[in-house]
Amino acid sequence: MILRINRTEQEVASGPGALLVYVLRDELGMTGTKIGCAAGICGSCTVMIDGVATRSCITPLALAEGKEITTIEGLVAENANGTLTLHPVQQAFVDAQVPQCGWCMSGQIMTAVAFLQQNPAPTEDDVVEAMANNYCRCGCYYRIKQAVVAAADAMAVAPMSQEVSA
Ligand code: FES
Ligand code: FES
Repeated sequence: MILRINRTEQEVASGPGALLVYVLRDELGMTGTKIGCAAGICGSCTVMIDGVATRSCITPLALAEGKEITTIEGLVAENANGTLTLHPVQQAFVDAQVPQCGWCMSGQIMTAVAFLQQNPAPTEDDVVEAMANNYCRCGCYYRIKQAVVAAADAMAVAPMSQEVSA
């Protein structure tokens, strides 16, 4: 079947019942998306499907076919010179030195990107609520909140030229 991932069509051998996270990681080698609980609880495997934060460990391909899948690899922008630029949320996580082990981080970032597309001017409480279901076993919650707030501020000053969802 054909999937549309990070603005590119990809043919995959897996069938409609295969779970998206394993297709991304094992068939396509896109290991930026991580597996934590593999049960839809922790959020480590979060990608966006048509702009909605989605847990890829419980999402069969049948639910992703025909939609725009965005993974952590798809957040980086490349200009005409081949220069790569991190998404403002990625940059904010770097600047705030958020990660410890890093395992939860792509899921945290994908959740934050989807959230900020829906709520570009959140309060700190909004951020805490939006990120509450993404677990971090290293306990980086304070810096995650700081980074998401900083990303919202940065994007208000210099909004992305286009949303990362299609
Ligand atoms: S690995 Fe998917 S929610 Fe935990
Ligand atoms: S940084 Fe280790 S689980 Fe979040």
